[in-house]
Amino acid sequence: MPRPNWRACSDALCIAPSLLAADFAHLADAVHALEGSGVNRLHVDVMDGSFVPNFTFGTDTVRALRRETDLPLELHLMIREPERHLETFASAGADGITVHQEVSPHLHRTLSSIRALDCRAGAAINPSTPVRTLHDVLDLCDLALVMTINPGFGGQKLIPHTLEKVAELRSEIDRRGLSTEVEVDGGVEASNAAACAAAGATVLVAGTAVFGHAEGPAAGVRAITATLPPR
Ligand code: DX5
Ligand code: ZN
Repeated sequence: MPRPNWRACSDALCIAPSLLAADFAHLADAVHALEGSGVNRLHVDVMDGSFVPNFTFGTDTVRALRRETDLPLELHLMIREPERHLETFASAGADGITVHQEVSPHLHRTLSSIRALDCRAGAAINPSTPVRTLHDVLDLCDLALVMTINPGFGGQKLIPHTLEKVAELRSEIDRRGLSTEVEVDGGVEASNAAACAAAGATVLVAGTAVFGHAEGPAAGVRAITATLPPR
């Protein structure tokens, strides 16, 4: 059941901490460390070892996280044939599900299916995928995710040209008067968060910058937030 208190960030900037950078042996601690930090969601990266060269969490992990927190769980599915697993992830406790355009030939149907499961629907594009590929489904997207790295691993450097894509997407969303959130994911840190926001992102996924902070994840969130303009 999706969180009833989950608000979209269309008029504010949100940090979405990515659990990929947490200590997998202590995920519950990672989650609890972020409660009360001001974040309004957790970003959960699901990888299948095929679409991306890495494995991470599955449905049982999502179910376990769900038991630990009321924070909304935003799933980023980096898996082939995501449409086969939507119901399972939704019933495990997902509040939002983002699928990749590159592995979703029936993206319109897939996004509609996510919404029918009472989850917020997201579509993601890799650095080499044009923004144009999302135009025809934007009205079905609660969130559009521009990957700012090649997906698969945390701790990479943000690819600068991807921010031009963020600006292009922002301009299309505004032109059409949509409330779709624009999310950036990969290499986001205090030194570039303001540039991401200036390009038009409203949700900033951050893994290493949050969980790698010397004073803990809540301090990592604060360090990024401190660089952002008030909205
Ligand atoms: C990578 C994931 C990202 C990743 C970001 O494929 O989608 O969510 O965790 O991690 P950092 O912030 O370390 O780049
Ligand atoms: Zn992600």
